[in-house]
Amino acid sequence: MTVTIVGSQLGDEGKGGIVDLYGDDVDVVARYQGGDNAGHTVVHEGEEYKLSLVPSGAIRGKVGVLGNGCVVNPRTLFDEIDTLQNRGLDPDVRVAERAHVILPFHRVLDGIEEEVKSETDDEVGTTGRGIGPTYEDKAGRRGVRVGDLLDPDVLRERLEYVVPQKRAVVEDVYGLDVADLDDPDALDVDALYEEFREFGRRFEAEEMTVNAGAFLTEAMENGQNVMFEGAQGTIIDIDHGNYPYVTSSNPTAGGAAVGTGVSPGVVGGGEVVGIVKGYLTRVGSGPLPTELGGVVGDTPGYDEQGEGENEDLAHYIREEGGEYGTVTGRPRRVGWLDMPMLRHATRVSGFTGLAINHLDVLAGLDEVKVGHTYTLDGEELRSMPPRTEQWADCEANLRRFEGWAEFDPATVASEGYEALPENARTYVEYIEDELDTPAYAIGVGPGRGETIVRESPF
Ligand code: IMP
Repeated sequence: MTVTIVGSQLGDEGKGGIVDLYGDDVDVVARYQGGDNAGHTVVHEGEEYKLSLVPSGAIRGKVGVLGNGCVVNPRTLFDEIDTLQNRGLDPDVRVAERAHVILPFHRVLDGIEEEVKSETDDEVGTTGRGIGPTYEDKAGRRGVRVGDLLDPDVLRERLEYVVPQKRAVVEDVYGLDVADLDDPDALDVDALYEEFREFGRRFEAEEMTVNAGAFLTEAMENGQNVMFEGAQGTIIDIDHGNYPYVTSSNPTAGGAAVGTGVSPGVVGGGEVVGIVKGYLTRVGSGPLPTELGGVVGDTPGYDEQGEGENEDLAHYIREEGGEYGTVTGRPRRVGWLDMPMLRHATRVSGFTGLAINHLDVLAGLDEVKVGHTYTLDGEELRSMPPRTEQWADCEANLRRFEGWAEFDPATVASEGYEALPENARTYVEYIEDELDTPAYAIGVGPGRGETIVRESPF
């Protein structure tokens, strides 16, 4: 059977912890989109591991698959694998031959484009990992796939086609001199060929590449449980998110099928668990109707730290929740839970269950609010509008809940749901009712045992 894990908000909902929670029952963990933009921290036997590409399950001895929908930077992949091996682990990672490769010039172009956009305050606030430019080349049919690294002739042919085009973009569109780039070899066919052919040899020697759909289907036929691990979140999905402030792939449940090569029926026939952070955070630019305070450089129109109406509250939640990017270290923007966003996410992915995280972070507040609906042009909306500019104009209609006192996460997790303070249960039940979806798990602390498990999807 399969369980698909989907971020219901803007990423950073605590997906890794939930993947981990159900991990014991899983044999294979497959990522279906994104690349090394997906920072996740895994704590295993007292050791902390920070990963951005390797699926978290690989740390616990599960087979980790990077599906065809992923974009793979072999430099990052092998760095992470080598680091894990140096720390005594033996991760088993397989990579789809159909997945696209992030080449050094993709990162260069990501940086240049963001810089140019920042002149008019239009930057997306990307992670700078070259994600967008790689998916652009995939869609433009000029990408290099992991399988191409295994074939010297094909690799050279692909590089000879694409590199001059990229060089022309750098020089003629952006007016830059390639020699002045931090990594001038990023646009040198021979240097790229040598480095990436070597990665191809390593992929081959370690028998890491697979036909992902066939590999996963065979695993399921052998009775194995597969988890599809989504990265990022619904509102930064390229189709269903707040375009253009999005990542360039589909973190929603449909992406799990397309991005691994199993049928939609396989994904839909299993469980789809929506991961919800009990409040909201966002890295990078774009609207956020329930935002408290703001972050200079990311919150639109917010030029000076300290000017937001609920600055202290935002600061408090950011510090309590450790809301700083895993990949970039940037402070995250903070807001109240946004129900129109969650209704949209639930419809797009068809959640069969929820995991609601970080309720401990809100403990100790006198009151907790949620954006229950929006008002746009005098009309009440229960779900997000499709146009980002309209979303920016939405005013959140807040609903107030009594706060709950601080509690001991380990005790509450071991005693179960009824041990959660009553006001926190009221909050959970409101979310379940509004989304018509049961909460399978409730995160009450950052540790592995600090989650109330009400139901295992396996
Ligand atoms: P990119 O994926 O690096 O192209 O970044 C595009 C947008 O997605 C930016 O706003 C990023 O901050 C956001 N983003 C990408 N990956 C993550 C993630 O793992 N968590 C939260 N935000 C992310």
